[in-house]
Amino acid sequence: MLKVDNRISEDFIEEVRRQADIVEIISEHVVLKRTGKNFQGLCPFHSEKTPSFNVNPDRQMFYCFGCQTGGNVFSFLMKKENLSFIEAVRRVAEKVGLELPAKELSPQEKKNERRRLRFKEIHELAAAYFHELLLHRPEGQAGLEYLKGRGIEEKTIKDFRLGYAPDRWDGLLSELAGKGVLPEELVDFGLAIQKINEDGGNSFYDRFRGRIIYTILDLHASPIAFGGRVLDGSLPKYLNSPETAFFHKGRNLYGIHFASRGIREAGYSLLLEGYMDTIAVYKAGFSNAVASLGTALTRDQAKILKKYANRIIIGYDSDEAGIQAALRAGEILLEEGMTVGVLVLEDAKDPDEFLRKHSPDEFRRKLENTVTFIEYKYKVLARAHPPRTIPDKAELIRKLAPDILKNPSPVEREGYERYLSLELGLTLEAVQHEINSLDKKSRDNKGKQENFSQKQDISVKKRNTIEGTEFDYPLDSFVPLGVFRAEQIILRLVLEYPHLKARVLENLKQDFWRLREHQYIFTHYPEKNLDYTENDDSWYEQIQRRLAEIYQLDIDTNHAEILLQDCITSILAAKNRETVEDLQAKMIRLEKSGDMAGALAVLQEIGERLKRGEK
Ligand code: UTP
Ligand code: MN
Repeated sequence: MLKVDNRISEDFIEEVRRQADIVEIISEHVVLKRTGKNFQGLCPFHSEKTPSFNVNPDRQMFYCFGCQTGGNVFSFLMKKENLSFIEAVRRVAEKVGLELPAKELSPQEKKNERRRLRFKEIHELAAAYFHELLLHRPEGQAGLEYLKGRGIEEKTIKDFRLGYAPDRWDGLLSELAGKGVLPEELVDFGLAIQKINEDGGNSFYDRFRGRIIYTILDLHASPIAFGGRVLDGSLPKYLNSPETAFFHKGRNLYGIHFASRGIREAGYSLLLEGYMDTIAVYKAGFSNAVASLGTALTRDQAKILKKYANRIIIGYDSDEAGIQAALRAGEILLEEGMTVGVLVLEDAKDPDEFLRKHSPDEFRRKLENTVTFIEYKYKVLARAHPPRTIPDKAELIRKLAPDILKNPSPVEREGYERYLSLELGLTLEAVQHEINSLDKKSRDNKGKQENFSQKQDISVKKRNTIEGTEFDYPLDSFVPLGVFRAEQIILRLVLEYPHLKARVLENLKQDFWRLREHQYIFTHYPEKNLDYTENDDSWYEQIQRRLAEIYQLDIDTNHAEILLQDCITSILAAKNRETVEDLQAKMIRLEKSGDMAGALAVLQEIGERLKRGEK
């Protein structure tokens, strides 16, 4: 037997082993390929040319037929990295995000640990009761009929441990009382509700009554919560277990007990909205589907899915709520660096309904023809507000830019830019310009050539503030962010070095300011000869707000002259760009009206302007 350092409890070690995934950990050392139920690779412990090293994810063990080395995740690390047992436990604990108890468990911690085990035990008992009742007791008949009506047969009921809560106040309470479970314990874990009677005494009743039970299973198929659905149209449609110390909706996913393996096999995960969607999709032969637990997708859930595959397809409901939820989820997933596709089902409200109308093969074809998240978002935005004018188009690009910029692959980014340029009838260059002007990184790299001097340093935090304010109140007209910032910087420089005002006037016309407040500040400051009588309070307030923004800019004003010149160049370039965009719109109009010669002439003019702009 391995010697166990007595500072780490057996329970803790067991928990680490439970949460660890041996395939994942060994994959960091050995290239593993799936072969049936197992994974295979070249043994790291002896030299070989054909793989005889096997990893069994079900049993969480490895074994080499060549050198007869084998064991669990801990023995693998002990041997591979020459660690002691405790060191190996520590290493794996870190990987799964479990905190190692530094010292012997305090009485409080021991109590918690006992409570956690009790939580597990009671959920196991409750799941067994609901499940048994559905399948084998007369009281479960209604539930069974309901599920049959939805095409769910016994195998699926068992796979997902579906159940039924009888239409009684004390079904679970009395069943578990017979197994030594106190009503207070059921209340503690959210499975029963306590009522104070008028006479001051207590009474208890079941939380789940007359409902189909979806058992929420964790990664290891242990029950940790329940969702209960009514059989008819009454409300609330679902009742879910409340959050407790041991159950967090945002850190678990419905279906993960199959999907952890299914996702790895398929190479992508399928994120759905409902319990029934997950079940229907699984039944149709796709075991890589999960659903969140009645809340919007969280970052923790995204991280879990990313562990198994970097690619994900969102398959939410096609109603408005589903669309909005898909947009939110997609952003989170992109932020985690995942490749996000969206499944669009035209004639069904969700995958469950689709699979009732169509075959699994048709569903597979849909999965093979998803749109990228960027295309999806574009379509949603363009449908809500069709981009007809050039400012509309620019606005749309700016809304998509943050998502496009999250993509680390330059090739994919260009793909999206090209897509937008085709959809919007703009040149690729114009689209890229607009997107790049929102990207601090590329601006810093390209330095002076691209709008701003390298010496300028607008910190990320400040940048957000600026972006925030830009959307907080409406601008007089559409102002590209690059121009907006350039104006702010010019004003800051003029406020600090009044002699630069003349330089600005030499290069730009008196009325070049795109923002009314900026124009006002430029005209009246730094002398501050404001004429309050002319303006109302809200205008004055607006000016003060703009001034505060300008003074908050985190820029290095030591190289004022260079910086000023860059801003001026940037404003002139933007002006040129806008002219180009106007010309493009004109060209498209001419093309549509059949005036090809006219369109060609405009195209030529565009080409020349672009060349000039690049200088
Ligand atoms: P849906 O209303 O789309 O239900 O909610 P569904 O799962 O597709 O159910 P069926 O097909 O009508 O049987 C999607 C998910 O939102 C959560 C549940 O997790 C549900 O699966 N939800 C919905 C709740 O938690 N509470 C509710 O009252 C409704
Ligand atoms: Mn549904």
